[in-house]
Order: sequence, then structure tokens, then C-alpha cells
Amino acid sequence: MNNFVFCTPTKVIFGKGIEPTIGEHLRSFGAEKVLLHYGGGSAKRSGLLDQVTASLESAGLPYVELGGVAPNPKLSLIRKGIALCREEGVNFLLAVGGGSVIDSAKAIGVGLANGCDPWDFIESKTAPAKCAPVGVVLTLSAAGSEMSNSDVITNDENQLKRGITSEAVRPVVAFLNPENTYTVSKFQTGCGIVDTMMHTLERYFTGDADCDLTDRLAEGLLIAVRDAGRAAIANPEDYNARATLMWASSLSHNDVTGCGKNRKFPVHKIEHDISGVHDNVAHGAGLAVLFPAWAEYVLQYDVMKFAQLAVRVWGVEMNFDHPEVTAREGIRAMRAYFREIGMPTTMGELGISPDGYEEIVEKTTLGGTVLKSYLPLGREEILEIYRLAE
Ligand code: NZQ
Ligand code: ZN
Repeated sequence: MNNFVFCTPTKVIFGKGIEPTIGEHLRSFGAEKVLLHYGGGSAKRSGLLDQVTASLESAGLPYVELGGVAPNPKLSLIRKGIALCREEGVNFLLAVGGGSVIDSAKAIGVGLANGCDPWDFIESKTAPAKCAPVGVVLTLSAAGSEMSNSDVITNDENQLKRGITSEAVRPVVAFLNPENTYTVSKFQTGCGIVDTMMHTLERYFTGDADCDLTDRLAEGLLIAVRDAGRAAIANPEDYNARATLMWASSLSHNDVTGCGKNRKFPVHKIEHDISGVHDNVAHGAGLAVLFPAWAEYVLQYDVMKFAQLAVRVWGVEMNFDHPEVTAREGIRAMRAYFREIGMPTTMGELGISPDGYEEIVEKTTLGGTVLKSYLPLGREEILEIYRLAE
């Protein structure tokens, strides 16, 4: 097990009926004026936004609203948000939505606290030391941004989708009411299941030395998500299934399933340029296509670990004479599960044909970037992974 620092400071308020407490909690974190940030309308339609504003009003907290965050959140709206917060004297950002709304709020917080454009941190590859406090009312179990130290945004001038990683961007408080995810479509539920699994799987396959406790926590989470995923797709109002998915979304990306491991996240980096260039591709759908292909590509470097996952999570019988057969069977079972929950598993299903590969790989390998994985992943290796996903 490698040395590690584990600090997950987000206060989690979990369960039914928590909305009336939002205003008071925000006050306890020093909120004086709030930016209420949300997406394209789902939180309005469900009535959640009204519940949030009622709670802010009863706590005597003034707020300004900025809706319209699009999936793969755009820098142009983030810049508007920073200007609005400066004008209005906002000191607390409340995201009501999924990963895109949270990440947009985090980027506004970075701009506000550092007096600069958040993209500067991406260009200079430095981590911001400060972020204005962010709170989250989660409506979609997926990205894990409600407890993560990541912030992923898209520059709509050049279609580059990039992340900032900094302890400063972890939200101070997250309100997790599983009922707020009942209205999520089957497709977005599927994307969320995949993304949640991926945050743990990217930490599972790192090639690090033995980390048995971390592995078993990871496998437990994956099994729970596998089963709750099936249940939530079958019955969107299954409270326990939605609750499992919501808590797993947070735990999968707050680093608890990565303690003692080196975080590399190659599949996420490959996917981010797919959804950066193709705005219609949902992050989880891109991962469902890419992860099994990446696994096939690197399997030879960690056969026993892939076989372990196959046996412990996907119920494959161990072939002790030929562990690589078990490992491959596990990847097949994972693809079948993704299809079962309505996810695409080929580049074609994402609407990307081979003649579109160059445009995407160019972004990933910009400036000679090579991704860390079991082997360095440059242009040729990434193209081969796309081909394995055809
Ligand atoms: O905009 P609205 O109308 O709210 O609709 C959204 C959006 O169309 C809808 N939705 C959300 N909650 C709903 C709902 N529809 C009905 N009922 C509800 N309760 O779902 C659609 C997708 O929302 P989005 O926020 O984009 O999805 P997700 O949570 O999957 O977030 C994806 C973004 O997060 C980034 C991804 O790259 C992507 O940009 N990630 C952020 C991470 C982080 N900061 O730690 C880590 C992840 O790996 C990921 O990269
Ligand atoms: Zn993800």
C-alpha cells in the first residue's frame, strides 16, 4: 500500500425531507448571499428549486439565480457567473443539479476566489489554492463531484474539455435526497451507473502493490451498484436502489476506494475529449464504450487483477490454468451488463466513425501528451483502443 493522505471534508446531509434545512446549513458555512445555480430545467419542473428557494428565504438568505448550465458545462456561462457574483456580492455557490451544474459552480468559485479566469489554471497546469464555498443539492447520481476534488469544464472556443484537481474545490456541504433522482431518465440513470463504477475501477486498475482492503471496498461498492442499477432501471422510484446509487456516486469519487493507490484515470482522459468534441455524447455513455476496450488493450499487463474482478464482481468461474480466459470473460460480462442497462458499447453507437478519430486523438495528445496507464498511451495506442471499441 502506498502512502496516502485521506481528507474528505464535505458534510453530507442524506435522506428524505432534508430540503427545508438547506438555508440554515448554508448559514452555518458563512453564506451571506447565494448564487443558485442550475441546469436546463429539470429542477424547476420537479419543484425542487421552489423548495430550495423557500428554505433560503426562511433562513433570511438573499440569493440570485443563474440557470441554463448545459451538460459538459461551458466556460462562457462560467464567465457570466463570475461577473454576476462579483456584481451581486455573492459569497456562496449552491449547485442544484448533477455533475455539470456542480462543476460549473466550482469553476465560478475558483474564478471568484482567485480573481482570474478558471481556464488560466488549466493552461498553466496549476491547482488553484482557493475556491469560494460550494454547496450541492444533488439530482443525479453519477459524477461524484458532490464530494470530489475535481472540476471538469469545456472551453466552448476550442472544444477542449479539461479538469482542475484541487482540494479547494471539494464542496463544503452536499444534500443527498435519493427521491430527487426519481425523475432521471433511464438513459441518464445508466450513464450514472457506469460513471460511478468507473471512478472506482480507474482506482482499482493501477498496477500498484497489494491493497487488499481498498480492493474489497471497491468490489463491495461495484456489486452494490450493479444490483441497485438493475433495480433502479426497472423501477425508477425504488427508494433503496436510488439511495444506494446516490451514496455510491459520492463514495466512488471521494477517494475512499483509492486509498494507497496512484490515481491515473486514463480512460476518463480519453473520454473527456470524446464528449468535448462531440457535445451530444454523455460522459457515462462514452465510458461504457471505452473502458472495456481499454481493458482488452491492457489486460496482458495485469491478468490476475482482471481475473479477480471477473470472479468477485461479475460472477465468472476462475480458470486456474488459463486466468486470461477468466479475465476476458469478465470484460465480456461487463459489456453485457452495460448493454442490459441501455448503454452503448461501440464508437458507432456514439455516432463516431473511424474518419472522426483523428480530430479527437489530436486533442488528447496535444503538445505531445502521453497518458499514464499500464503502458504509456500515446496517439497510436489510443487509436487502437478506439478500434477495439468498434
Ligand atoms: O439540465 P437539466 O435540465 O437539469 O437536465 C440534466 C441533464 O440534461 C439531467 N438531469 C439531472 N438531474 C435530473 C435530470 N433530469 C431529470 N431529473 C433529474 N433529477 O441530466 C442531464 C445530464 O446532467 P449532467 O449534470 O451533465 O450529468 P452528470 O451528473 O453525469 O455530469 C456529467 C459531467 O460531469 C463531469 C463529466 O465529464 C460531465 O461533464 N464529471 C465530473 C467529475 C467531477 N467533477 O468530479 C468527475 C466525472 O468523472 C466527470 O468527468
Ligand atoms: Zn467520470
